[in-house]
Amino acid sequence: MEKTLLIEKMVAGGFGLSRKDGKIYLVKGAYPGEVVEVSIEKEKKDHALCKTKRVIRSSADRISPPCEHFQSCDGCEWMNVRYDKQLEYKTSIFVDQMKHIAKLEVPTPTIVPTSPYHYRNKLEFAVSSERLGYFKKGTNDFLPIKECLISSRNLGFLKLGVEKVLKDHKKFSSNVDRVVLREAEKNMVIFVSKRKLTPPKIEEANNIVSLENRSHVVISGRQTVHKGKAFLKIELNGIEYTIPAKSFFQVNYSGASELAKIVKKYAKGGKKVLDLYCGVGFLSLQLADVCEKILGLESSPISIKAARKNARTNGISNTKFLLSKVQEWNPKKHFDTVVVDPPRSGINLSVTQKITSMKPSRIIYVSCDVTTFARDVREFVKNGYSIEKVTLIDMFPQTHHFEIVSLLTST
Ligand SMILES: C[S@@+](CC[C@H](N)C(=O)[O-])C[C@H]1O[C@@H](n2cnc3c(N)ncnc32)[C@H](O)[C@@H]1O
Repeated sequence: MEKTLLIEKMVAGGFGLSRKDGKIYLVKGAYPGEVVEVSIEKEKKDHALCKTKRVIRSSADRISPPCEHFQSCDGCEWMNVRYDKQLEYKTSIFVDQMKHIAKLEVPTPTIVPTSPYHYRNKLEFAVSSERLGYFKKGTNDFLPIKECLISSRNLGFLKLGVEKVLKDHKKFSSNVDRVVLREAEKNMVIFVSKRKLTPPKIEEANNIVSLENRSHVVISGRQTVHKGKAFLKIELNGIEYTIPAKSFFQVNYSGASELAKIVKKYAKGGKKVLDLYCGVGFLSLQLADVCEKILGLESSPISIKAARKNARTNGISNTKFLLSKVQEWNPKKHFDTVVVDPPRSGINLSVTQKITSMKPSRIIYVSCDVTTFARDVREFVKNGYSIEKVTLIDMFPQTHHFEIVSLLTST
């Protein structure tokens, strides 16, 4: 069924919102002020999900997308709109979600931009016919990628080197399920396969690792190092980090540097600080010179080991790192400041309760998902906290995603 709609504003998930005949239409590929003809993909009683079929009245903010894969690829859905508008949409999505989910009226926050292109230090590719690619929009069909414009330039070159080797080694290539490229001071190629692999030489690669992996989690499984080391190194704001192949690290280094500066500003003067979901100690170690003691908690053994190593390398002695799932840990001490940086799914109710039961005077909640953030903030507010400060960071230009850094204080 087709419909003509006027787009009112952008909302979470990167949709343009339209209201007609008492119903809400969430439209992909349309921007505020536009009149579009849409096809309805999914219809519920009070709302419908739609795709833009034809733009009848176009927004003046549309631009010609510089990437040849735009529209067919699943990433970078906002690449055809001006970057300053992308930033504006992100702040309004934040305010909107806070109103509707957290039930809070908040002022429009500041958003810190990053480089609109060439920012990603990690890329995950599918492999088919010796080519590296992503998936076609909304499908599991392979889409060969010539150049990814949000990839760091160096990873772009590395990708070409990997593809050349895959072409020259067809049998090897047919056994590779995924290829992950990571970059820090040096680069790394990670081959993922259900089988044990012996990768050929790749001149452009500083480090080559393979993962024998049957699970749906791409970066997991038995690891073998074929060239160089199983970790990368990067210095951010004067702290040197070792990042193991299998550990999480922020995908946008300039955004990560900004993130650390803001968290540091919000946490300054903390006496006993708890850093939940601490990864390789990224935020804990940044706080070491402005806070007295920091305890980091993380469920990945490799990341915790790296966090301890990172503290030693930097001569930092006021941090401790504990291997535990946050939900399984029971605090025995009081913490005046709690930093929380969970995965996209946010924190569950038991963790919110655990945090508030410690009665910290400050909670610094870092999130890459506005919807789960708003849900969790609602719980903190019910428990006597209010949002004192918020800064957004555009960690993911050309997409509808962004990072939130917030300071909640007890009222
Ligand atoms: C968004 S990352 C943040 C990491 C770190 N704060 C940083 O900025 O690099 C979330 C981290 O939470 C960890 N994690 C996921 N579920 C967890 C859980 N239930 N308990 C503890 N850590 C968890 C992941 O391994 C990952 O390192």
